[in-house]
Amino acid sequence: MPHIKVKPFETHSIDALLVKDDRFVFRALSQRACEGKHEELIGLHYEGETFVLQIKKRAESYLIKPDSISRPLDVNRIKRALALFAELLGLTIVHANIALSSEKHALAETANKRIRDFEAPVFSREKIAIEVGFGSGRHLLYQAVQHPDTLFIGIEIHTPSAQQVLKQIALQGIENIWIVNYDARLLLEMMPSNSCSDIYVHFPVPWDKKPHRRVISERFLQESLRVLVPQGRLELRTDSDNYYRYALETFSAAPKAHFTVEKNSEIAITSKYEDRWRAQEKDIYTVTVVCENFSECKVIDFDFDFDAQKLKTPSAERFPTKSAVYDGFFIHFEKCFMMQSEKGLLVKVSFGSFDRPEHKYLLLQGGAARYYPQDPVKTETNYRAHQQIGEYLYG
Ligand SMILES: C[S@@+](CC[C@H](N)C(=O)[O-])C[C@H]1O[C@@H](n2cnc3c(N)ncnc32)[C@H](O)[C@@H]1O
Repeated sequence: MPHIKVKPFETHSIDALLVKDDRFVFRALSQRACEGKHEELIGLHYEGETFVLQIKKRAESYLIKPDSISRPLDVNRIKRALALFAELLGLTIVHANIALSSEKHALAETANKRIRDFEAPVFSREKIAIEVGFGSGRHLLYQAVQHPDTLFIGIEIHTPSAQQVLKQIALQGIENIWIVNYDARLLLEMMPSNSCSDIYVHFPVPWDKKPHRRVISERFLQESLRVLVPQGRLELRTDSDNYYRYALETFSAAPKAHFTVEKNSEIAITSKYEDRWRAQEKDIYTVTVVCENFSECKVIDFDFDFDAQKLKTPSAERFPTKSAVYDGFFIHFEKCFMMQSEKGLLVKVSFGSFDRPEHKYLLLQGGAARYYPQDPVKTETNYRAHQQIGEYLYG
């Protein structure tokens, strides 16, 4: 992770940057600064990305790095932003890992998609396939090369894997892959109905101890069947007996799902995981669900704005410190930061479904409130949580 360690400096000097350089959006100070846990957040809009730099103060040095909620995929972009920040403030760097990586390993920028690209998506091919949790990307890259007429949407929650595959796409000049670095369970809900021919879920993490984290669920199955075209296929491959049994139970409980099961079937390309399990002579199960019906169109018209007329003066006391659980969703106001340049608050919040939570900031400033760096995924559960968040801001 790119970061710089600098000699301690007067962080209020950043306020002058906010005034003269509109790439710097805010400076916010952790409420727990008085307990010696000094943390500041700097909002940035840089090279088309909106993200946050975190400053953690230590006695001898300050550590500056991107936060995990908004971190862009392009590591070189983060490095350039850190270098610019240090230069504009005249900081003395004591340690850094921000030397730019070679341009030949640049990410395929056009393949890198964000949530907002799925609000009114213009797909570059008529035929679409999705791979959930592509890991090293071996299967995704292979399929895309074999089927140039199909757009492959790879959704991966693990940022370094998404970065690696974006580099491969650039190196190999592949034009029919989109990469989304997000939770696939959420993103699937943004996909249009009857749009995909295949959804691949190969060797998902079994999460035996935390089953709510599993990709496969009744909800995921319903969404997959909505997104698949008639005769489209959801293909699960797993080496885990537990997960296999769990998937069978989940698929059997759904009235409309027709599925087949194969043991140790061959596919054209195997992943590193599969090779490892085969070498250990483990059984590999393939469960294929075929979509048999045409689904109704899904209208996604949720609006995640707040009503400025109803907003009360922002104050940390408005927000409970413990997670609040509602019918089908939760809200957890994790941390409050005081805005430094103009009176206001920045609140780190997680919310939504228990198994598909969103992590965002709420930016409350100048009589307005909005999510930062971007609105949540437009799911019904997120919308219900958003309405409840509004109650904390209006009440
Ligand atoms: C065990 S690996 C398998 C990778 C690859 N499919 C293979 O067969 O080698 C599981 C992958 O799923 C990703 N993953 C887990 N949960 C996810 C989610 N909710 N959305 C997207 N990706 C997820 C993990 O980051 C990891 O890369």
